[in-house]
Amino acid sequence: MSHPSSTPPFTQRPSKYQYQSGFGNTFESEAIKGSLPYGQNTPQNCPYGLYAEQLSGNAFTVPRATQQRSWLYRIRPSVVHTPLVPFTQPTLMTSNYDTINPNQLRWKPFPIAEKEHDFIDGMITIAGAGHPSVRHGIAVHIYTATKSMGDKSFYNSDGDFLIVPQQGTLDIQTEFGFLEVHSGEICVIQRGIVFSVNVSGPSRGYILEIFGSHFRLPDLGPIGANGLANPRDFLSPVAAFEERECNHVKINKFGGKLFTSTQTNSPYNVVAWHGNYCPYKYDLNLFCAVNSVTFDHMDPSIFTVLTAPTNEPGVAAADFVIFPPRWMVQENTFRPPYYHRNCMSEFMGLIRGVYEAKKEGFLPGGGSLHSFMTPHGPDADTFNAAIKSEQKPTKIPDVALAFMFESSLILGISEYANKNYIDDDYWKCWQQCNSHFQPPKQ
Ligand code: FE2
Repeated sequence: MSHPSSTPPFTQRPSKYQYQSGFGNTFESEAIKGSLPYGQNTPQNCPYGLYAEQLSGNAFTVPRATQQRSWLYRIRPSVVHTPLVPFTQPTLMTSNYDTINPNQLRWKPFPIAEKEHDFIDGMITIAGAGHPSVRHGIAVHIYTATKSMGDKSFYNSDGDFLIVPQQGTLDIQTEFGFLEVHSGEICVIQRGIVFSVNVSGPSRGYILEIFGSHFRLPDLGPIGANGLANPRDFLSPVAAFEERECNHVKINKFGGKLFTSTQTNSPYNVVAWHGNYCPYKYDLNLFCAVNSVTFDHMDPSIFTVLTAPTNEPGVAAADFVIFPPRWMVQENTFRPPYYHRNCMSEFMGLIRGVYEAKKEGFLPGGGSLHSFMTPHGPDADTFNAAIKSEQKPTKIPDVALAFMFESSLILGISEYANKNYIDDDYWKCWQQCNSHFQPPKQ
C-alpha cells in the first residue's frame, strides 16, 4: 500500500525539532540524561538541583481516564515573577462577544497590518459564547503577526487554544519544548502552558479557544479502530531548555482579561518532564476521510478531527472539523453540502484553495458564521452546476482545505467583528436560487 500519489507530500519530521508520537500518551522526556527523577515525582532533592512543579489540566479527582497532568523539572519555579498587573496595551482580544446577529455572516480576509506586531498584539476576537469564569464556552479568534514574540510569552488561564495557521509557519517555544507548525497543520496548547510564537514573515491564522473540557479524539463507533485522525500522528515536543538571564514579559489571559508580569529568567527552563498534559501538533494531510461510497452524504461530523465535549453525551462544546481533499463517488447524488438548518453554530475558515460550496467570496484568511437554525447551503451557481454535473468520481483538489469550528452554543459576535471586514453582499449569493419546480401537467 502506498499513499495516494496525488496528495501533498506527507510531512517529514524535521531534524531541528524532535517529537514523541501518540494522542493522550504519558510521555517522558529529559534534555539532560538523568534529570528526570526515577520512580517518584518529588524527591527531597531533584537531580541536578532542579525544582519539581506539577501542572494540572483537570481537577485532581476526575476519572482516571480523563486525568491530565504533567510534572516539570525546572531550573527555577514558575512562581518567580513580579505581581500581575492589568495589561494596558490596546487589544482586540476580548470576552465581550455580546452582539447578537442571526444572519448568515461572512468576513473578507483579515489583513495582516504592515505595522510590526506579534502574535499577541495581532489577536482579534471574532465570536464566542459562555465565559471562562464558569468553565463553559468557546471563543473564536483570528491572529496575525509580522514579528516574533522574543522575550515575551503567553499563558492562558481560561482555556485551551487550538491554533490553525493559514499563512506562515509558527515556530512555537513552549515549556515542554519546540513545535514547528506549518500551514496545513494544527496545534493545541492547553490551559496554563507558557509559550512564545516566533514567525519568519507575515503570518495569519485562526484560533478556537475552549473554556471547559480538553480536546479529545472522537469515538469511531462502527467505523472501527482506524480512520479519521489516527492517534500516532499527533506529535508532542521533547524537553528543551535554556538558562538565560533576561527581561522577560509574561502575558496572562485570566477571566477574559489580560495581565502582565516580568521576570529575570527565561520561563523555558524545564530540563525534564513527564506526563500526559502537554502541547501537540497534527498534520491535516494525515486525516483519513470517510464518506458514502454508494449515494447521499454522511453528516459532516464524519470529518471531525478533535472534539471538546460537554457533559451532555454526544454534544460538543466545539468540534474541529475539516473538509480535506478527497474523492467524491456517490451516484445519483447532489454532491455539494446539502441545504440545511441545524442546532449548531458553524464558524468556517479557509486555509487554502476554493471551498466546494462557495466558489467565490469565501477566501483564505476570511471566515463565515452560520448560526442556530439560520438557513444556509451552496450558492446558486454551485447548485446550478451540481444538478447538471456528470456523476463520475471526482476529486476535491489537493489545493482546497476548509475547516469548521462547530459549537452547540449560540455564538455572539465581538463589536469589532460585527463592524469590520463583513461582506455585506453575502446574502445575495442565494437570491438566484430560483424555482426549478415543474409539476406534472394536469
Ligand atoms: Fe452548515
